[in-house]
Amino acid sequence: MIQNQWYGILDANELKGNKPIGVTRLGEKLVLWKDSSGKVSCLFDQCCHRGAALSAGKVIHDTINCPFHGFAYNANGKVTRIPANGKNAPIPDRYSVNSYKVEEKYGFIWMWYGEEKDHLPEIPFFEYLREGFSYGGFSEVWPVHYTRAIENQLDVVHLPFVHENSIGRGNQSLVNGPVVKWKDNLMTFYVDNVVDDGKTKPLKPNKIEDYKSLFSLQFQMPNMWQNRISKDVRIVAIFAPIDDSNTRIYLRFYQKFIRIPVLRQLVNSLSNIGNKIILHQDRRVVLTQRPIKSELKLNENLIQGDMPIIEYRKRRSMLKGELKHDWSNPSFS
Ligand code: FES
Ligand SMILES: [Fe+2]
Repeated sequence: MIQNQWYGILDANELKGNKPIGVTRLGEKLVLWKDSSGKVSCLFDQCCHRGAALSAGKVIHDTINCPFHGFAYNANGKVTRIPANGKNAPIPDRYSVNSYKVEEKYGFIWMWYGEEKDHLPEIPFFEYLREGFSYGGFSEVWPVHYTRAIENQLDVVHLPFVHENSIGRGNQSLVNGPVVKWKDNLMTFYVDNVVDDGKTKPLKPNKIEDYKSLFSLQFQMPNMWQNRISKDVRIVAIFAPIDDSNTRIYLRFYQKFIRIPVLRQLVNSLSNIGNKIILHQDRRVVLTQRPIKSELKLNENLIQGDMPIIEYRKRRSMLKGELKHDWSNPSFS
């Protein structure tokens, strides 16, 4: 995992009322709940008394109460009440579990993974989508490391093969570029796939001058992607790492061209049916990839068309502190 990042980990709709929810994210068992003011809290989901899951308990007076012997925990993970010891018994600090910084924003729950700081950076959600859009979505688990699921969405080479009867129709197998541009940790990649006439070679990224007129997609480190179908229509995916071999993908269709509520929900739902079909075409192949986790140095033979994947691996490695230099936009020889 990359440290000091906000990770999208849940759809905010998964937290209903004051019912706690237990999930595994970033390799950790977590319990999340909302207090009476709507603020989300997140603790390690294992009672420090005798190991029961707090997520099977109840939220009472804004504390999460273990279902086994009723220990109550506040949002900081500290036990505030041990019923068997009586209301007034002092409680030593060791009666506590880890707490995690979480926030609800843009309809997702975000978790800060890294050092505790007074001022955390802003949650890096795509700026254009922050308001004015309606959306509908779904999620599913893929038994893959999140890097493989992400790389699939950066892969412009696979379109005519994996999606030959859907978005990859037309046999545009020759891959010009792609052109990759970074702005902080936001990558934009411009796609120029064409039919191979047997005479031309793929253009190098630096030879595509009018790249801004091309179709483009974006990836925001560490785990969010968007397909810019048009100005008013977007598909967003969040790749929530569960553990080293499982990822929950949250896929959303965003649009702002239909404003009538009933119709809007209908269109959003219908689009998701299509998106699910496409996602399952990907899933079938990505599940077979080995090794399960992607790294900067793998025994793979990459090609020019893999540039967005190469760039992602470099950036990830850099943010993890493994790679010291920013090697953005290298040219291929
Ligand atoms: S295991 Fe949680 S209170 Fe005993
Ligand atoms: Fe795909």
